[in-house]
This record gives sequence, C-alpha cells and structure tokens, in this order.
Amino acid sequence: MTHHHRIAGNGQIQFGVFFQGVNHTTVWKDAQSGSQTDFESFRRVAQTAERGLFSAFFLGEGLRLREHLGRIHDLDVVGRPDAQTALAALAAVTTSIGLVATQNTTYNDPADLAHRLASLDLLSGGRAAWNIVTTDNAWTGANFRRGGFLQHEDRYIRAEAFVQTAKAIWDSWADGAIAGSRNDPRWLREDAISTVKRHDESFDVEITGRLPRSSQQHPVLFQAGDSPDGRDFAVRNADVIFSAHPELEDAKKFRDDIVARTLKAGRPADDVKIFPGQEFILGATAAEAEEKHQWVRSLQVGPETAIAYLEQFWGRTLTEYDPDGPLPDIDPIVDVTNPTRGNAFHGKSAKDLAAQWRADAKENGQSIRQFVAARSRLNGRGLVGSYDDIADKLAEYAHAGAVDGFNITPWIVPGGLDDIVNELVPRLQDRGVYRTEYEGTNLRENLGLRAPLTRRGSLTSTQLTESEEVA
Ligand SMILES: Cc1cc2nc3c(=O)[nH]c(=O)nc-3n(C[C@H](O)[C@H](O)[C@H](O)COP(=O)(O)O)c2cc1C
Repeated sequence: MTHHHRIAGNGQIQFGVFFQGVNHTTVWKDAQSGSQTDFESFRRVAQTAERGLFSAFFLGEGLRLREHLGRIHDLDVVGRPDAQTALAALAAVTTSIGLVATQNTTYNDPADLAHRLASLDLLSGGRAAWNIVTTDNAWTGANFRRGGFLQHEDRYIRAEAFVQTAKAIWDSWADGAIAGSRNDPRWLREDAISTVKRHDESFDVEITGRLPRSSQQHPVLFQAGDSPDGRDFAVRNADVIFSAHPELEDAKKFRDDIVARTLKAGRPADDVKIFPGQEFILGATAAEAEEKHQWVRSLQVGPETAIAYLEQFWGRTLTEYDPDGPLPDIDPIVDVTNPTRGNAFHGKSAKDLAAQWRADAKENGQSIRQFVAARSRLNGRGLVGSYDDIADKLAEYAHAGAVDGFNITPWIVPGGLDDIVNELVPRLQDRGVYRTEYEGTNLRENLGLRAPLTRRGSLTSTQLTESEEVA
C-alpha cells in the first residue's frame, strides 16, 4: 500500500497553528508566557503564523472546565474565549490565513451553527473552516439537559445528520441567486432559495438558509475523532483530518488507512488531507534543542501535575507519593478508567493499566514525574531537534506523502511560533517543500482542495480528469 503515500501527498508540507490556551501543555510558569484570553496574544500568534504562510489558525473547544477528583483542576491553564468570536476578531487583522473553529455536533443545532460559520466565512473573505467534533466532553451533558449524554455511536449518527443538514443550508441559495445588475427587476431571483427539510430521528426541521455562498462555496470541513466510526465519518464528510498520528511510521499507517477508507467512500485518494497535531521544540543545535526539551517538559509536568495525572487513573489521591520516586505500588480503586471522558485509555481495566505502567516505568528507570512527562504526551515525543535536522525530517514526511501538514501546538503563548517562522520555514522553503506565497485567495484554494463534495457537479472536465487519475 506504500504507493498510497505518494498518490495522496503532493510533496509539500503546510502548517496550521493550534492555539490551545489550556491544559498542562501550555506553559504558564515562565516569564515569557502571556495571557490566554487577551486578544493581543491571539493577534500576535495569528499574524506570526500568517507571516510564516501558515494555512490555518485553529481553535479547540471545551464545553466545561476540566475537573479532577470532583473539583476544578487548578494546576493548569483553563478558560478560553469562544472560538468563533475570537476568529471573527482575527479576521479583521489577517488577510490570508484560514480560521478554523472546533464546534461540536452533539449540543449545537444545524440552523444556528451553519449560519454562524457561513457568517465567519463571508466576513473573512472565504477563510472559515469548521473542525467537526462530537466532543470528548460529552460527559458535560449536565450543561445541556435538553440534549443530555449521547452514547458514542449515537453521537456519530447525529453528527452525520447534522453535517448533511449544514451542507444543505449552505447550498440552499442557488447560483446567481442575487441580481447580477442594477437593471434586474428584483434583488433576489424568484425561487432562488430552497427550504431545507429534514425529518429523522436526529432532526425535525425546516430551515431557510439566510446567507449566500462565500468565494470558497462554504466553510472547509475539518474533523477530529480517531475511532473507526470517526474515520469513516471523516471520509464521508470532511476535507481535512486533524489527526493524532504525527510520528512518521504511524503517520504512514494512518495515511494508508484513510486512503483505503476514502477510496471506499468513492472519493479520490488525495481528497482528504491529513494534519496531525504536533509540538515543535527547536534549537540552533541538537544539544540546545534537547536541553530546551527537558526544560519545557519540566515546566509542563511539575511535581503536582505528575501526581494529579496518575490520580485520574487510580481514582484516588496519591499525594503521599514522591513525584521523584517510583510509581505507586497500590492498585487503583476504580475498576475501569472513566469511559466517558475521552482519554486515550477509556474502558481499560485500571488495575491492568497501572500494572503495565509500573512495569514500563521500572524498565525505563523513570520516576513518576519522568514517566508522566513522557506518557502524557499522547503524540509521542514531539519534533525535537536543530532547525536543519527538523527541516530534513519534515522534507522526509513530504516526500513520503505521510501527511499534508502539521497543526503546530505551541507550548508557549504568544511567542511560540517565532523560531518556527524565522528559522524553520526558510529552511523548508530552501528544500522545496514549503510554499513561498499563498497560492489562492481563500482557504479551500490554499489547502489545495477540490470543490465541496455537494458541488462536484460543477467541476470542470479538466478537474475531473485530474481527480480520476489520482484515484
Ligand atoms: C486531534 C484531536 C483533537 C480534538 N479536539 C477536540 C476539541 O477541541 N474539543 C472537543 O470537544 N473534542 C475534540 N476532540 C475529540 C473528538 O471530538 C471526539 O469526541 C473524541 O475523539 C471521541 O471520538 P472518537 O472515538 O472518534 O475519537 C479531538 C480529537 C482529536 C483526535
């Protein structure tokens, strides 16, 4: 299946920035760290990203503050502004970068969310995208009594109906709906707007779309959700996957899996782009980068954070354990790790997990703190190295076709992209794997996407031939 990498990738790497603004990966105990809520932080990160020709500025969504043993988790950064509000403000101080809002399909309604996203799309000149999630915060159903908790598979059923409805809303204004000239008899062509009707177990709605299409037709669709259901949902509906598979070999495997699913869904192999989340820790030399790596990890996983991390899985306080000593020798008091909170270990036997971790830590000679610093990064170690080494490494990704880009998660805000833009981007350009200017005027063009799935009928014959060859 190796040929799939080459077919699906285009030999280039793009960047997005995932401004997290929350959790332990965002360093706050350092003099360089700024506010997570001040617009100035958003502005600086977005404008730096745009200077570095990034494709997208990306915001996540959390529906509730993180909790720990029944209390608000008070060790890490929490609290972030609503994504669409922040992105609307950023649209005014940027010109080319895509603006991606993570929004869940479990607690929103299509008529409302589709309208807000179309608004961002029009007001930004065709730069909006929606990162579709069913949300790993589904346990926050208490915030939304009307909807309440939905089981995993039900969430994807609702998500599918939701996205189809949103697309129908975006497509509900006909081409040429609005008068082409002041001499036309009326502003709106007769019957130019069709009503979207959907009556199924998820929705019972009749919706009139309230906006025309943008220059990119409708917002680009990202998807984040890694289960088989999530992947199939992505290849049926999305343009880009925000993946959790950044390591090269794993990224190739993930690409193969997505290409196979994409072809099965009747789409060209390269139709779904892949952007894994990844942390970059760079230096002028490998030794400097490694030193910085140790320093960043020590700030991200302090002694209390290390203990709190284990407490999530043990289900009890572990404050009597030394963070610089071995993992707790007692068993967890919960039977299974909490299945609703979206962590990577849901449903596993807590006792087995603890035993496994104890053995792993012992084998690697790791203390609690060292173990957690390594383990709590779901995506492995991050890209750690000199500017030149990492540029070479990224060129390898590009040539292997393993990914289309990386969604960079800065560990510090607002300066976290400075070395990437100043030092890494020029080296990637020298290696011919990174753009030297934005290719298009809207996000769809800059991501190299075809027309939206629902609008493929209007593809030109050249575009169709190209996509058939690719398949
Ligand atoms: C890389 C990545 C980023 C995600 N970001 C968010 C987020 O910002 N907010 C959210 O509610 N869920 C987020 N999710 C979770 C998904 O919404 C989904 O609920 C969760 O992964 C469970 O679905 P799955 O079993 O298909 O993976 C993210 C998932 C992945 C893989």
